[in-house]
Amino acid sequence: PHILLLNGPNLNLLGLREPHIYGSTTLPALTTTLKSHASTLGLHLTAFQSNHEGAILDHLHSHYPQAQLPTSQTPHTPFDFIIINPGALTHTSIALRDALLGIGVPFVEVHVSNVHAREEFRHRSFLSDRAEAVICGLGVWGYEVAVGFAARYLAAKGV
Ligand code: DQA
Repeated sequence: PHILLLNGPNLNLLGLREPHIYGSTTLPALTTTLKSHASTLGLHLTAFQSNHEGAILDHLHSHYPQAQLPTSQTPHTPFDFIIINPGALTHTSIALRDALLGIGVPFVEVHVSNVHAREEFRHRSFLSDRAEAVICGLGVWGYEVAVGFAARYLAAKGV
């Protein structure tokens, strides 16, 4: 099974920006850890991060073999499961919601911080009601929990 780890805007700065909120683990270090954790569970994990909403949509659309992708060179890549931290797009992007629903791949929404303990505008998510699960406030460990969940979820579905 193939899991996509998708990180949205500013998550390339993980470990660098606001470490009191997001911790000190960098995205490359986290990705390495998650890839090896996934492989011990029999899953193949690929990672994509972008600060550009359209690039994220194109990447999701690459799930479809026949999708027309005007701006992206991403080859056709089917996903069995998606672990997504959409960053601020969580709170703003109907287009991201539509893309996830459009490809119909199950996903878990992850936030490093506890968004409910922060500003009011972070309490709303355009994705949560369609996510298999929402993990927030566990720090970067939340991603590891999500990988473990994905393994169980896919095994239960026989994928
Ligand atoms: C975040 C929370 C969002 O509100 C914020 O815009 C981010 C990161 C998190 O991981 O805690 O960029 O998704």
